[in-house]
Amino acid sequence: MTTHFSAPTDDVERLRDRIASALARARARTLGLTDALDESELVAQHSRLMSPLVWDLAHIGNQEELWLVRDVGGREPVRADIDELYDAFKHARANRPGLPLLDPAQARDYVGTVRDKVWDVLDRNTLRGDPLVRDGFAFGMIAQHEQQHDETMLATHQLRAGEAVLSAPPAPTTLTPVDGEIIVPAGEFVMGTSTHPWALDNERPAHPVHVDAFALDAAPITNAQYAAFVDDGGYDRAELWSDRGWAHRREAGLVAPQFWERDPSGQWWRRVFGVMTPLRPRQPVVHVCWYEAEAYARWAGKRLPTEAEWEKAARFDPATESTREYPWGDAEPDADTANLGQRHLEPAEVGAYPKGASPAGAHQLIGDVWEWTASGFEPYPGFRAFPYAEYSDVFFGGDYRVLRGGSFGTDPVACRGTFRNWDHPIRRQIFAGFRLARDLRPEER
Ligand code: AVJ
Ligand code: FE
Repeated sequence: MTTHFSAPTDDVERLRDRIASALARARARTLGLTDALDESELVAQHSRLMSPLVWDLAHIGNQEELWLVRDVGGREPVRADIDELYDAFKHARANRPGLPLLDPAQARDYVGTVRDKVWDVLDRNTLRGDPLVRDGFAFGMIAQHEQQHDETMLATHQLRAGEAVLSAPPAPTTLTPVDGEIIVPAGEFVMGTSTHPWALDNERPAHPVHVDAFALDAAPITNAQYAAFVDDGGYDRAELWSDRGWAHRREAGLVAPQFWERDPSGQWWRRVFGVMTPLRPRQPVVHVCWYEAEAYARWAGKRLPTEAEWEKAARFDPATESTREYPWGDAEPDADTANLGQRHLEPAEVGAYPKGASPAGAHQLIGDVWEWTASGFEPYPGFRAFPYAEYSDVFFGGDYRVLRGGSFGTDPVACRGTFRNWDHPIRRQIFAGFRLARDLRPEER
């Protein structure tokens, strides 16, 4: 088990620096995503599935105010009058453009005022004792919250029409050959965590889980693989879809992943943040819903991995029989191990991150695309809502599927081998793809 940055008393200054850099990195990204667009685009509804960007911006500030200024800091409210406007449970995303929101200048001013107070709260806090602040938890939670909304805002950018406004260097193109499957032998492993200081409530506690032997794709399903399913009539063959999946496929008129277009010559193109690009065959497919992943799996004669299978493949090291933080070990992700943090505006082709592979040879489990799993979103045994039920608890048992591993748009602070994301099985504006698993045949056991 790793110790991370769990703070002995003499390390509090290092922890403070770490918190400050996580908060500053989140804010730089938030401002980059919002400064890129003019006022009318910030208040516009780019999709009924998304908030106006100016709502995300002030909501980021409001959550930070609630937890760090008022709760941790014990300070007077900055703007108690706007709590209701920025409470995600009070107004559906589709209705948010009609609310009397702060305008972009007011929202920028608000998040800046809150952040100035937070710097002072951070300076004075011992980061010890109370579980809310111990090891900087509440600060880490708020950095993760901002980064999660930054990823949501990035999805809004992908949905918006018009000229490209974001740019980033292309993902690495030096590729190691990767194909086939890895075998994960039967046995128990430790799922979840009780020790990562910034792990969110739904990742806790660590608990043993037995997982039968299974095979898992060494890489996410690529555009070329997915295009073969499309070309084989995958969207027209009801027998490949579950009843709910087929009903959704018909009602929504699905014919290919979101943002794919075919030209008259038959070539597929993909709209990527406002730029039409020829489909890159070796990139992981992205912007597919769970039902599309399910149909592809049936077509391929396989299935989606369960969440426990995914986490065991990502964290269990058979050589030491221990559970680690990431497929490559316990070191934090960097530019050589994973495509995270909006460093690139696309998933990297399969084979681009050999240093990020697991000991058994599973590549790109972390970064590139969120991976749909077969599992619904449920609490682990011994779960306790902390510090608020509206993060996880109210979603358990709902119509959600768990996604794992993070995407190119996920910051490392909000991505771990234990990190759990979830969404409705019809959603595909998120940066989600998948890989497949299967049970072993008797002769493979
Ligand atoms: C964990 C990504 C599903 O964006 O709905 C943000 C994260 N929770 N604000 C979401 C979240 C509260 C959440 N997901
Ligand atoms: Fe939020």
